[in-house]
Amino acid sequence: MPLSSPPAPVGGARILLTGGAGYIGSHTFVALREAGHDPVILDSFANARADIPDRLELLTDAPIAVIRADVRDRAALDAAFAAHRFDAVIHFAALKSVGESVRAPLAYAEVNIGGLVTLLQAMQAAGVRRIVYSSSATVYAESATMPLTEQAPLGGVSGYAFTKRAGEEILARLGASEPGWQIGVLRYFNPAGAHPSGLIGEDPAGVPANLVPYLAQVARGDLPVLRVFGTDWPTPDGSGVRDYIHVMDLAEGHVASVAALLGGAEGHVLNLGTGRGASVFEVLKAYESAVGRALPWVAAPRRPGDLAAYWADPARAEAVLGFRARRSLADICTSSWSFARPRG
Ligand code: NAD
Ligand code: WQD
Repeated sequence: MPLSSPPAPVGGARILLTGGAGYIGSHTFVALREAGHDPVILDSFANARADIPDRLELLTDAPIAVIRADVRDRAALDAAFAAHRFDAVIHFAALKSVGESVRAPLAYAEVNIGGLVTLLQAMQAAGVRRIVYSSSATVYAESATMPLTEQAPLGGVSGYAFTKRAGEEILARLGASEPGWQIGVLRYFNPAGAHPSGLIGEDPAGVPANLVPYLAQVARGDLPVLRVFGTDWPTPDGSGVRDYIHVMDLAEGHVASVAALLGGAEGHVLNLGTGRGASVFEVLKAYESAVGRALPWVAAPRRPGDLAAYWADPARAEAVLGFRARRSLADICTSSWSFARPRG
């Protein structure tokens, strides 16, 4: 068994995207293609629309390879690694609802932790040891001071946060136990927005939990009103503050991360955010500008588990990867609306 992944290819790399038909995975697929790589999607379609591959073909003007499989299915993973000579893996596949993770901790552990372990075992067997892992700002402890650097204490308390921290720890222990692993851990802040084509975007099943897709549905008339969860937070306008990063910036962060690994970097743990916080009212205003009219909102009680404000220190990602988010809150809202708006 080789001790490290095959040498990095001179041209484009062949990259397995688990969960590649999902929100962030599909945008990363486009960014990887634009950078000259050859991404292959493996997805169970548990949380992805069936027509995503067609849309990606349309967007990138080339046929795409999709493996319909569950990341917990070792035999399917082995077959995928046997059929393709992957240079690297980007692991998006996971369950991501904080609320659901509290009600169904075993399902979250099985998919998010069990799925990662099965994937790593299949990678080990195939001799592929480059992986970029989707982590989250939710891993940081509530007590951390702002902006959040990668050295801030960890401790996110939800079942979901636990699985992301466990994933990071499993990867760190694996990397320490065996030479040759190159591991990129990316802690996303609040991904939002869509590809500017309006062909792919965030399209959650049911009532959206996240602010931007919720606003999209209010703007479309599918939901009557935005409930602002807390107007008495200790923030400048009383509403919650987050670091919203455009999903295409995030996608380009993955391209930079995988490129660093292909170039020989040992690994990294990095925030992907903008370094700027925006309040719920600022996002509402930006969305209203994108739509061209006022949107209805009401003040509502604070949502359990929410924090007043957090945002990233993005300096390390810039120093290590040369990555910097370029797109604005206006870009996020305009692209979200071009994806969500009713088409005539
Ligand atoms: P998503 O649900 O849109 O994408 C996840 C994809 O994984 C979906 O296409 C789904 O069908 C697939 N999937 C789920 N379970 C699977 C399984 N067992 N086997 C194979 N495929 C499976 O979510 P997303 O927002 O694109 O998130 C991608 C990753 O980023 C996740 O790991 C998530 O935890 C992480 N993340 C997301 C956010 C966010 O706010 N969206 C923030 C931080 C981290
Ligand atoms: C943003 C702000 C809300 C909806 C979640 C996960 C986190 C990560 C990203 C995966 C907050 C307010 C929201 C609404 C509102 N996911 N809000 N009305 O909670 O920062 O992060 O997604 O890793 O783990 O917790 O994002 O978009 O839900 O909320 O007022 O209808 O908008 O209170 O201040 P959050 P969000």
